[in-house]
Amino acid sequence: MKESLQKRDSWNSKLGFILATAGSAVGLGNLWKFPYTVGKNGGGAFLLVYMIFLLLIGYPLMLAAITLGRKTKLCAVGAYKSINKNWAFVGFLGVLCGFFILAFYSTVGGWVIYYLIEAIKGNLNTTNSTLLANIFTQFISSPQKSILYQAIFLIITYLIVVKGIKNGIEKASKIMMPALLIMIIIIAFRSLSLPNAIEGIKFLFIPDFSKVNLNVIMNALGQVFFSLSIGMGVIVTYGSYLDKKENIILASTYIPLLDTFVALVAGLATIPAVFSFNFEIAQGPSLMFITLPAVFSSMSFGYLFCIAFFILVLFAALTSSISMLEVCVSYFVDEKNKKRSSSALLITLVIFLIGIPATLSMGVLKDFKLLGSLNFFDFYDKLTSNIFLPLGGFLLSIFVGYVLTTKLALDEICINGEKFILASIWSFLIKYIVPPLVFIILINSLKELFTLIIN
Ligand code: TRP
Repeated sequence: MKESLQKRDSWNSKLGFILATAGSAVGLGNLWKFPYTVGKNGGGAFLLVYMIFLLLIGYPLMLAAITLGRKTKLCAVGAYKSINKNWAFVGFLGVLCGFFILAFYSTVGGWVIYYLIEAIKGNLNTTNSTLLANIFTQFISSPQKSILYQAIFLIITYLIVVKGIKNGIEKASKIMMPALLIMIIIIAFRSLSLPNAIEGIKFLFIPDFSKVNLNVIMNALGQVFFSLSIGMGVIVTYGSYLDKKENIILASTYIPLLDTFVALVAGLATIPAVFSFNFEIAQGPSLMFITLPAVFSSMSFGYLFCIAFFILVLFAALTSSISMLEVCVSYFVDEKNKKRSSSALLITLVIFLIGIPATLSMGVLKDFKLLGSLNFFDFYDKLTSNIFLPLGGFLLSIFVGYVLTTKLALDEICINGEKFILASIWSFLIKYIVPPLVFIILINSLKELFTLIIN
């Protein structure tokens, strides 16, 4: 374990940690998944539940994960194992989860690359919803094209993880992340100034409580986990590289704040435009790809904006995908003593194979339902966001609350005499609120899945 730790990159500074962890958190989950999930789950009501879960569950778990990583200075599996041998399986669950998330994440990563190329060719320059929907449908209906682009996305992810150029990526983040932020704010302003944009704002911010149902609750919790990269060991692993003299409280506050800000601005960039152009708000995964080109086409310099935007989205997607692949690879390197390059290759290949049906289920396999109404893509998404990640979060809270104990965790958090005014609230949440709350929702998600399997 020691030897492989030395082989891995470590952060040059606290900024390095923040950039990499924020890079993992901010990705397609914010830019692509958040707006369409809000759209499908009733708007403001979903946002409200999301915010409550973020405060009660996401933020406390972020702090718990970073603390566990930094205390043990080990990757996810090792971190659990070093404190209690029987808990190594939690790290293993995270690795398994990584395979399935990356399987469908790479589908969408491929779409981004395709759209970048179409943007350069100038093919996205229209506000006509039929034309834009056609571009999307034609692309995802072509098995060769969509699988090719998925493969390209995975190859880039693989190369970054294997060549150990994460350091370079970390440096590039310093420019790319602020650029993305500025860009998306400008797009949001444009979107908000479109005619009828107010309808979108109302949809996003005025909760219609009649829309809160079990599904909305399960999806909001899943989105919190997915967006913060919590529940599969990414944050524990990244936290393990954090220097003892850094302030964990600050670090774990910046990241959820930034992540939520990006998601909200992405919502403001997309949703008002959907209403203004009269597109379908509940259309699902195609929402960003159909709506944002229309916004660009209605702007001056839209052509350049569109290209720059898809470059930045691709970058954000890659900083997330490398974090997932990294967790899977370091498991095989640290725990199974496998070689880094060959395990990364094998893992990427397996993810590609699991990912192909997800990609095809958007096109040629559209009518093939794996379970109930779920195709492969939806199934991977539900399986990870609604089951694996909450399960990982539940186990993390039990582990930090009762096995490591919040007392020892707080010793680690305040190791340099940091003042943590929320210490007792945090302990309370981790011990008494997070476990039962996540557990109840998890049981419901499992029930839903089993009903689908039985029928
Ligand atoms: N959080 C990322 C996003 O919003 C996706 C992601 C990266 C992730 N690493 C993860 C999700 C680990 C869950 C677990 O796009």
